[in-house]
Amino acid sequence: MKVALLLIFFLLKLPNQVAVNGNGIEPWLNAPAPAPTPTPWPEQFHALLYMNSTSTHLQITNLWYDWPKGRNVNILQKQLGMMLYDIEWNNGTSFYYTFGEGAQCQTMDFGVGIPRPDFLDGAHYLGQVVTDGFLCNLWEKVDFIWYYEDVVTKRPVRWDFYDGISTHVMTFEIGAVLPDSIVQAPAYCFTEVVNGNDLSET
Ligand SMILES: *[C@@H]1O[C@H](CO)[C@@H](O)[C@H](O)[C@H]1NC(C)=O
Ligand SMILES: *[C@@H]1O[C@H](CO)[C@@H](O)[C@H](O)[C@H]1NC(C)=O
Repeated sequence: MKVALLLIFFLLKLPNQVAVNGNGIEPWLNAPAPAPTPTPWPEQFHALLYMNSTSTHLQITNLWYDWPKGRNVNILQKQLGMMLYDIEWNNGTSFYYTFGEGAQCQTMDFGVGIPRPDFLDGAHYLGQVVTDGFLCNLWEKVDFIWYYEDVVTKRPVRWDFYDGISTHVMTFEIGAVLPDSIVQAPAYCFTEVVNGNDLSET
């Protein structure tokens, strides 16, 4: 996750490449001309995400993206594992923490903010394909992300990172906002030294 989180920030900075990586996706359907562009993310939304990594570890993530408040919140439930809070702020600081027995917190500074709503601008259009049962437009950006958007509703359906983490969008509530009280990092984020367990790698 850490690598994915870190590298998504590079989308903000890198120029688009024209390199095409088929990513094993078949079959291709008609590609409309001119090529469509990805719909920008709504400034505020909540999405329930089903994620599968190459190691076949599964997790459910509640994503609360909030551009006006400058935060990107991921609350991750790992299968039969921990629930991890990942609060990313636009000033570059991210807090990772757990609650309950053995609660831990790790603070990281990525030096860049959260993805902009238009972070997919400049993505390379690959065509139309059916995924998860939805007819989608598919784009690729900097060989890092493959992004599937429903042709009709323009909602994201799925995105894959280069490292094999596949994310499937189960709900997409435009305008939903997480209460501020939930994103307040716990006191032990500010008082304790991390005990060596890298939460973001688990
Ligand atoms: C997760 O992804 C792996 C690799 O693509 C695949 O073999 C597996 O069936 C997937 N598991 C689920 C539950 O989607
Ligand atoms: C970034 O913002 C968060 C939330 O307001 C704050 O807790 C954190 O200390 C800030 N980081 C820096 C480096 O100012």
